[in-house]
Amino acid sequence: MKRRDFLLTAGAIAGTAGLGAAGLGATGLAPNVGQRKAPMPYDLIVQKARYKFTDQSTLGMVSLLPQAPPPVLVGHQGKPMVLNVRNTLPDYTSMHWHGVRIANAMDGVPYLTQMPIATNETFPYAFTPPDAGTYWYHPHCMTMDQMAHGLTGVLVIKEAKDPGFDADQVINLKDFRLNEEGEFLPSFTGRGAARAGTFGNVVTANWQENPVYDQPAGALLRLRVVNTDTTRIHKLYLTTTDARIIAWDGHPVRDPIALPTALKPVFVGPGQRLDFALRMPDSEGQKIDLMASLPGQPKVMASLRAIGSNLNRNLNALSALSPNPVAHPDLSVAQTHEFVFGWSPDSMIANNGVCGSMGYTFWSINRTPWAGDAATGIGPLAQLELGKSYILRLRNESPHAHPIHLHGLSFLPLRSNKRRLKRNWTDTALLLRGETVDVALVADNPGDWAFHCHVIEHQKTGLAGYLRVS
Ligand code: C2O
Ligand code: CU
Ligand code: CU
Repeated sequence: MKRRDFLLTAGAIAGTAGLGAAGLGATGLAPNVGQRKAPMPYDLIVQKARYKFTDQSTLGMVSLLPQAPPPVLVGHQGKPMVLNVRNTLPDYTSMHWHGVRIANAMDGVPYLTQMPIATNETFPYAFTPPDAGTYWYHPHCMTMDQMAHGLTGVLVIKEAKDPGFDADQVINLKDFRLNEEGEFLPSFTGRGAARAGTFGNVVTANWQENPVYDQPAGALLRLRVVNTDTTRIHKLYLTTTDARIIAWDGHPVRDPIALPTALKPVFVGPGQRLDFALRMPDSEGQKIDLMASLPGQPKVMASLRAIGSNLNRNLNALSALSPNPVAHPDLSVAQTHEFVFGWSPDSMIANNGVCGSMGYTFWSINRTPWAGDAATGIGPLAQLELGKSYILRLRNESPHAHPIHLHGLSFLPLRSNKRRLKRNWTDTALLLRGETVDVALVADNPGDWAFHCHVIEHQKTGLAGYLRVS
């Protein structure tokens, strides 16, 4: 028996994605057992959930499971997957597969790529992920509400060639805004929306405060950290040096990133992902902590505790992950498009459609606030010719940071007016205050691709638009 088989021991839940967010157990793998030709569908039921953060149950959670976080979904690079999303909420919804380069019609953006999913309707999402790595899913309709109440899950796409880890651990970082009774506070405030966003007061990993996960002593572990929060930019580090960063925003790292430390943590904005390869400590009971620098003092987000006899593995035994098949832009011919992210010129009412509107705008792209998901007659921010290379100049005119996310395409950061950027493929560029970043891409996936800030209050108050590739 191979070591990793021994680790995949969680009990299967028939038919659906039954895995808690805790680890990648057998249940996460269930839909692909035996590598059958026709993919077994995931039946995902968007539903109200109840959950105990404290001794009181918090009602009004939204998940795919009645009493647990949205499960880790697992797919395989180059293999079709089917995800039937059924809506049992009274509100509309839709599901977006963040970072996965798929056909436009499967992208889950209401009005732009599909109609919102009504109560008791099912939308069959079907796609073949071209890239391996750590991705995630969340609704793109009633986003502020449903994401703040928990509907954010991790999507792991396994490499065609097994990279040889002994174990895999997913950490989904998500805050909640609760009162002392454990009830939800309003998801945002106008004050927050006009500034850095409204922060949660219960800071969790997999919906828990400092969960501890047992992993084999001396094992090689892949730690997948996903920031699915609607607001917080996490500043993270580990309490071990026997680790390295192997992937960034899904893609294998090509420009090495130094291991973060307490003094130099790594910034992971909303929507971003970070994969570590690490070696578990030798003796049972020894721990590695994932730390977050939070205002005030650092906090242990989650711990990995060594158990069992020492597997005695060595990080150097891991071979590098194979690069994903992303086309390299030709910078010698790339045309530049500029996008300015800033205040909205006036506070217009953007109230249309069924996907939730705040009724006012604070933000804009190129001085135009997004007029609401269902607004008609809104053209793309830019038209890109299919197959051509482009540079997108992303200019943040505001004193707040913005994680700017593009659907459907991966891009390469080139330069910043503030710092040296790592040239690693991504779908989300974290712009610091007053920062201008150039990124490059090949417009090789046709469609209308949403382009927005991933601080959801910013997105929902104007900082959104789309690019057209045709
Ligand atoms: Cu993860 Cu349009 O978003
Ligand atoms: Cu996305
Ligand atoms: Cu923003």
